[in-house]
Amino acid sequence: MSLPNHGANAHHVYERLGITMPKTVIDFSENVNPLGAPSFVKERWESYVELITTYPDPLGEPFLSAAANYHGVSKERVIVGNGAAEVFASLAKRYEHKRAVIIHPTFSEYEATLSTYHVDIKEIIAIHALPMEEIKREIEFADVIYICRPNNPTGFLAPLEDIKNIAAYAKKHTCEVILDEAFLDFVDELESFITLLKEFPNVIVVRSMTKMYAIPGLRLGYAIANEHIIQDIRSRMPHWNSNAIATTIGAECLKEENYRFQAITFAKKMREEFNEFLEKWNCTVLPSVTNFLCFQLPDSTYSKDFFEYLLAKGCVLRHTENFKGLNGLWFRVGMKEKSQMELLQKEMTTWFEENSSS
Ligand SMILES: Cc1ncc(COP(=O)(O)O)c(C=O)c1O
Repeated sequence: MSLPNHGANAHHVYERLGITMPKTVIDFSENVNPLGAPSFVKERWESYVELITTYPDPLGEPFLSAAANYHGVSKERVIVGNGAAEVFASLAKRYEHKRAVIIHPTFSEYEATLSTYHVDIKEIIAIHALPMEEIKREIEFADVIYICRPNNPTGFLAPLEDIKNIAAYAKKHTCEVILDEAFLDFVDELESFITLLKEFPNVIVVRSMTKMYAIPGLRLGYAIANEHIIQDIRSRMPHWNSNAIATTIGAECLKEENYRFQAITFAKKMREEFNEFLEKWNCTVLPSVTNFLCFQLPDSTYSKDFFEYLLAKGCVLRHTENFKGLNGLWFRVGMKEKSQMELLQKEMTTWFEENSSS
């Protein structure tokens, strides 16, 4: 039985498994900021309505300028997308019939979008650290390498020094590097590769606004790279690709410094508490720097039973069946409000007690 390739939209998981969906469900498979969108969104919501009566700015203003300012780059080096997902879809065409390297387990859209354009994909499996020698060997034959940092689903933050090494080696071998920083907001802007882009014109950094600002329904993301690459991506984007409400709200979101600080602090606290709980029950936990973490049961042969038990209790974890290298034996949990994390721990405790040999 194949399960959906993405988290969120929990009803699909219940439908596929034929499990009755309880009235109340907490979707831990989703990994957006549990604190919800910044408060100004609700407060000013009515004022956004008038934006729908005219066409939006084709370049994504006012967000384009706000993102450029936020990162200290020129507007010509930024492209706004209808979510980072649209940027990936548009980028994939750039590598049509070429050769790409993807480091797994990771976000499935890299492979999905590249496959549409008949890209020859070389997979590298790396859960705990980047295998630098293997990566360098593959770069010599590749046109592009995709790296998710911090990685989804493991939460692993590859050292910036390793990424610089890879970028330099790739530059020498005319290979581009796509760095997905969709979850970097939960770490520290100082960890971003954006400040190094001038040195590495072969690197494209992709960012998402939907995770940190809890606006996945609005769709907003962007990429920063050298001007030629940005023009090339733009040439394949539909006109008016980003909507006026998203770009207006997105520009305001970037001013929310205090909100970001609270979100980072909260995610860290929830992650540490949950990590401690998992270790108490002898689970293996992957060290994560972001707002989700990945774990495995002490005996992973019980994984399916455990997953379905929690579904029946209304707790939806992210299965890892489509994550190469994790093969369904791990679970990803997005951090939620304190009471929801406590409820998950309560249900898991019951399962652990009933299956104490597992
Ligand atoms: C690593 C990663 N990058 C990008 C995206 C897409 O983000 P967006 O909502 O901006 O399209 C996701 C969504 O889950 C993701 O996990």
